[in-house]
Amino acid sequence: MNIVVMGAQWGDEGKGKLIDIVSEHSDITVRYQGGNNAGHTVVVGDKEYVFHLLPSAILHKGKVCVIGNGVVVDPRALIEEITALEKRGVKIAADRLKISDRSHVVMPYHRVLDGLREMKRKNKIGTTGRGIGPCYADKVTRCGIRMVDLLNPRVLKAKLEDNLREKNEVFRKVFNQKGYSFQGIYREYLAYGKKLAPYVCDTVLYLNDAIDRKKSVLFEGAQGTFLDIDFGTYPFVTSSSSIVGGVCVGTGVAPMKIDKAIACVKAYTTRVGEGPFPTEFSTRLMEEIRKKGNEFGATTGRPRRCGWFDSVLVRYAVIINGISDLAIMKLDVLDDLPKIKICTAYRYKGKIYKSFPTDFEALRGAQPVYEEMDGWMRSTNGIREFRKLPRNAQKYIKRLEGLLKVGVKYISVGTKRDEIIVR
Ligand code: GDP
Ligand code: IMO
Ligand code: MG
Repeated sequence: MNIVVMGAQWGDEGKGKLIDIVSEHSDITVRYQGGNNAGHTVVVGDKEYVFHLLPSAILHKGKVCVIGNGVVVDPRALIEEITALEKRGVKIAADRLKISDRSHVVMPYHRVLDGLREMKRKNKIGTTGRGIGPCYADKVTRCGIRMVDLLNPRVLKAKLEDNLREKNEVFRKVFNQKGYSFQGIYREYLAYGKKLAPYVCDTVLYLNDAIDRKKSVLFEGAQGTFLDIDFGTYPFVTSSSSIVGGVCVGTGVAPMKIDKAIACVKAYTTRVGEGPFPTEFSTRLMEEIRKKGNEFGATTGRPRRCGWFDSVLVRYAVIINGISDLAIMKLDVLDDLPKIKICTAYRYKGKIYKSFPTDFEALRGAQPVYEEMDGWMRSTNGIREFRKLPRNAQKYIKRLEGLLKVGVKYISVGTKRDEIIVR
């Protein structure tokens, strides 16, 4: 069985935790897009791990992890991540990690440009500052440097010279900055190439061959549907295809080989960075839920914006991604709220929207229409069976199923591996 696990909100839905659990039953886990803008948390016992580029299955010994061609790789960040993990006793031999030779490389000028472009914008995106947007832009404008280029000094030299010629001019003339010397970057990136060479291969052939041999593959999404470059709240999005459709282009595995897609959602909603968020809380609940849910970015540490569950948004995500099962994460965070709201539609200029509007002003001005339910006011942390959940918690889950028209298979009630209900 080849399964996709991805986010159906604005990221940070708890994908890391779910992937750690689901990957126990698959042979290979593959990241298909994004870069180290992602922060996926896995808690095992009293240890917490946050993965940025490595797939969240890496803690399972004997499982293979793949960084697909659709990912943008910052080699410095990846090497740091591997080194830090090895220091904590997780060995990452070359037979356990494969990096696509076609994946694009995040260069120092991408990181700096990310920040400079944000500074110049009036409507800031609030990026993670990891150079993700500029790296994907270079890929599309056909001047990107790929992982395979780090293994070929001649190609790297030619591409880097070309890039610096243009980029340094932009740095000087647009941003009033000094620019980069060729030698420094060239040497640094050749060294990264040498270090990562044992992991670099044609992951397309590796994956398709594994699938032919009936191995099961888990595709790990980063970010979420509403950060997707096509379907998100553009322009407040990331620069890749985080939806299920991104799996095929980001790994070279054909759509017919994907069996199903599971969407991760929080029992409420969060967002980091700028952009419209119709169900965002006012101050009091914002503080309360942020504190209870520990809603601070796993990558940048920024406080996450929090709000009620938005079924208009998630229903749209269910459609786009062909979702067959839902995972509702962080239900426990709502444990002591006397009343819980679900957004079922938007109102804008006297009109009711039952689906997600595309127009930016409509989305920004959308007033949520809420349905209110009684809370359950009891701890759910220790519960492992659906029927043992408080009645109102069961009602909440069932109401979400009704609104989203899809079944809930997983309900997460805490950060730890075993704090989950599987139906
Ligand atoms: P991801 O980017 O989708 O992998 O999610 P993040 O790791 O960025 O953020 C999810 C946060 O919620 C992490 O700190 C997790 O440890 C935590 N978490 C995941 N599931 C649950 C849950 O069911 N309950 C609680 N309280 N925390 C959870
Ligand atoms: P995971 O995989 C939440 C947000 C940023 C910003 C926008 C663009 O952990 O769910 P970028 O650096 O990608 O150009 O920033 O996207 N963003 C995320 N928000 N979770 C993430 O990843 C995110 N990755 C990017 O905050 O609003
Ligand atoms: Mg995250």
